[in-house]
Amino acid sequence: MKYALVTGGSRGIGKAVCLELARKGIPVIINYQSDSDAAQEVKKLVEAEGTQATLMRFDVGIKEEADAALLKWEEQHPDDYIAYLVNNAGIRRDSLMFMMSDDNWHEVIKVALDGFFYVTRRLLPRMMMRRHGGRIVNMASLSGIKGMAGQVNYSAAKAALIGATKALAQETASRNVTVNAVAPGFIETDMTRELPAGELKKLIPMNRFGKPEEVASLVSFLLSDQAAYITGEVISINGGLYT
Ligand code: NAI
Repeated sequence: MKYALVTGGSRGIGKAVCLELARKGIPVIINYQSDSDAAQEVKKLVEAEGTQATLMRFDVGIKEEADAALLKWEEQHPDDYIAYLVNNAGIRRDSLMFMMSDDNWHEVIKVALDGFFYVTRRLLPRMMMRRHGGRIVNMASLSGIKGMAGQVNYSAAKAALIGATKALAQETASRNVTVNAVAPGFIETDMTRELPAGELKKLIPMNRFGKPEEVASLVSFLLSDQAAYITGEVISINGGLYT
């Protein structure tokens, strides 16, 4: 059986992706870092769609944790594999660069970039061996395309993720594994809750933040058979807010 793994699946965009995949009948592995209650809630919602849900707790930025959790799953599922990977986990630690602490630099890179590397590397061999159309979607950001003041760490991490997406897409294309990135603008989640929404909306041609479900629809399309010939792309979803 083909499973989906969504990192950071307990809330926000990750949660919306889990629910969208559940509606399509794809069994979902919900990765989360610490909020067991929120993860349990997503599991219940996935199951309410009649789809199988598994909770998998690990910090994507810690290789040993990711390896141990994924190895355990593989041992318990010798005939299954994770065909759909959504590298969604991410954090913001904004500040102007001249004041940015070492921790704020490293933490953001660790979750977005190390997380992508550890989880994806672990899953690639099985995905490529099966040749049945593996799918990887990386959650980048508008910040990684145009750069945003106060987010040198985040813009760097997301831009690197875009570079990695394009390079990996070329490594895996002959095995029918596609690798794409999604670059949201401002989306209504915990990550953007403290931003001055009123001011920011004036900059967005559609005059509103996006919804997690709207991003989830795009991710779901990129994971589908219909998207088999799309790879190495960065798809923006930002209500017209490009530069
Ligand atoms: P969120 O803060 O609601 O969700 C982030 C998720 O990642 C949470 O479930 C969190 O627990 C998880 N996470 C954080 N560190 C982790 C770690 N080390 N290991 C495992 N899980 C971890 O934010 P949101 O908005 O849902 O963000 C999802 C992704 O979308 C992130 O990669 C973010 O950078 C990206 N994004 C969000 C935008 C927005 O406006 N909300 C805009 C552009 C990109």
